[in-house]
Amino acid sequence: MKLLEQRIQKDGRVLGDDILKVDTFLNHQVDPELMQDLGEAFAQAFAKYKIDKVVTVESSGIAPALFTGLALHVPVIFARKNKSLTLPDDVYTADVYSFTKQTTNHIMIDHRFLNRGENILLIDDFLANGQAISGLLDISHQAGTYVVGVGIVIEKAFQKGRAILDAQGIDVVSLARISNFENGQVVFATE
Ligand code: G4P
Repeated sequence: MKLLEQRIQKDGRVLGDDILKVDTFLNHQVDPELMQDLGEAFAQAFAKYKIDKVVTVESSGIAPALFTGLALHVPVIFARKNKSLTLPDDVYTADVYSFTKQTTNHIMIDHRFLNRGENILLIDDFLANGQAISGLLDISHQAGTYVVGVGIVIEKAFQKGRAILDAQGIDVVSLARISNFENGQVVFATE
């Protein structure tokens, strides 16, 4: 998506070898108009499916997921990251290890919000090592829902997340694909 690539070039900051900081429009301050464009792009990309719900993980997945739900006219669910060790019984849970932060989060979704047989679309802000999406796939499996596809705002194609999803035959759409960082500059993958 050209508009997103231009915004990343303009406002993104490369940190070290593998981190892109986009806190001026996605991860801290959020640009609602851009989010709306992203939501419409995801809705269009997955228009061939019947989608019952959009599912993401808090916190940075919520903004693009919300606008995708708005464009598709379906509810949006965000998995919560539970900081306490005691989990209620009536939730689906998965462990998500963050390579970036070197912590493990328990993510959870209440049983009431996912029903067996529903088609769900997963949305997230970044695809890096694929841990967050793998956690949502695990929860979807527990709930008996079907993941029609995965929509990613920014994919870092040089990390292993995409290969993990491709190996499972999942339909992945990334609105911006970064092939690498070169001298502090973002290089986009040409598909
Ligand atoms: P994953 O997202 O593919 O699972 O990979 P990883 O374990 O590396 O990512 C852990 C967290 O770091 C995720 O956020 C992910 O969105 C974020 N992240 C990964 N790469 C980048 C990057 O280049 N730039 C930025 N800004 N974030 C990155 P999270 O822990 O779920 O946190 P949040 O959604 O609450 O912000």
